[in-house]
Amino acid sequence: MSAPPQIARRRPISVDHALDAASSRTLADDALDGLTQPFKQLAPKHLYDARGAALFDAICELDEYYPTRTERAILEREADRIIASTGAGELVELGSGSATKTRLLLDAMARADLLVRYVPVDVAETSLRESAERLVVEYPSLAVHGMIGDFERHLHRLPAPQARRLVAFLGGTIGNFRPGSRRRFLRTIAALLGAEDRLLLGTDLVKDRATLVAAYDDPEGVTAEFNRNMLRVLNRELRANFDTDRFDHVALYDERNEWIEMRLRSRGPQTVTLEAIDLTIEFADGEDLLTEISAKLTRERLESDLAAAGLELTDWYTDERGWFALSLSRPA
Ligand SMILES: C[S@@+](CC[C@H](N)C(=O)[O-])C[C@H]1O[C@@H](n2cnc3c(N)ncnc32)[C@H](O)[C@@H]1O
Repeated sequence: MSAPPQIARRRPISVDHALDAASSRTLADDALDGLTQPFKQLAPKHLYDARGAALFDAICELDEYYPTRTERAILEREADRIIASTGAGELVELGSGSATKTRLLLDAMARADLLVRYVPVDVAETSLRESAERLVVEYPSLAVHGMIGDFERHLHRLPAPQARRLVAFLGGTIGNFRPGSRRRFLRTIAALLGAEDRLLLGTDLVKDRATLVAAYDDPEGVTAEFNRNMLRVLNRELRANFDTDRFDHVALYDERNEWIEMRLRSRGPQTVTLEAIDLTIEFADGEDLLTEISAKLTRERLESDLAAAGLELTDWYTDERGWFALSLSRPA
């Protein structure tokens, strides 16, 4: 009798769901708070339903959107060095999205024969599940333990580490925090790290206004559609009646704060009802709803934020134009 064919044993995917009924309350609570303030605003995490996540992936392909391309090029150049200096076997990725650049790190971990487990965390369920399915096929020995959750609220629910950890937070998403909450969030991340674990942070850097604004206001209108997706989410989840065609996409650079603001500007006065939370709001002509800030940093500012969070920056990798940086830090 011939031996049975060898079948590559695929490691299982497990996915924890931290977004429960209480979390749909988060959108309701955020809307109630944010839409009744004198300057209306909502957190960018509400942009990312399945459609929003797909639109973000399309943004990453745009010529104007340099962050993805630049970060990818740095990773292509440095991934082996990053993995060699961290010795990490477990990659925890916050806001993993479609996990495209992640492969460069997983490849380097596999080359170093360290790869054990990938732990993606994202609010976007479809992106997380689809990327997990793809990755276990591409890396047959990889275990994936994902968490569909809010990285601001659910990091205490991460599975216990199985190997030395690298916590990656890519794409410049750290820029979505204002300075005070940025430090608070970095402290939460620091609390996840054992003495040998490291944080890999992708950070968009201060640069000229024209380049920055173009990255958030492409001529094809993909970013505008992404921004308006917030209104579609509200229409669906909170039974609202926003007319998405009556809001213009605005991207502006606030030079004093060194951050981009994405806003939706009301075309004409309008009244909107959010039935599920029993709320009616008025927009004046030209009134804005702030949907995202994206802060641009310098090495000095990031270093002091990290220090305030109990982290020490050890390595700084950037591109030749100095547009984007990846940094490694360790518990101080
Ligand atoms: C700017 S995208 C970056 C995606 C990917 N890391 C990259 O570099 O291309 C931000 C990602 O973080 C996720 N995200 C945003 N806020 C989040 C939150 N509070 N908790 C968990 N995920 C969040 C979004 O769903 C999205 O996938």
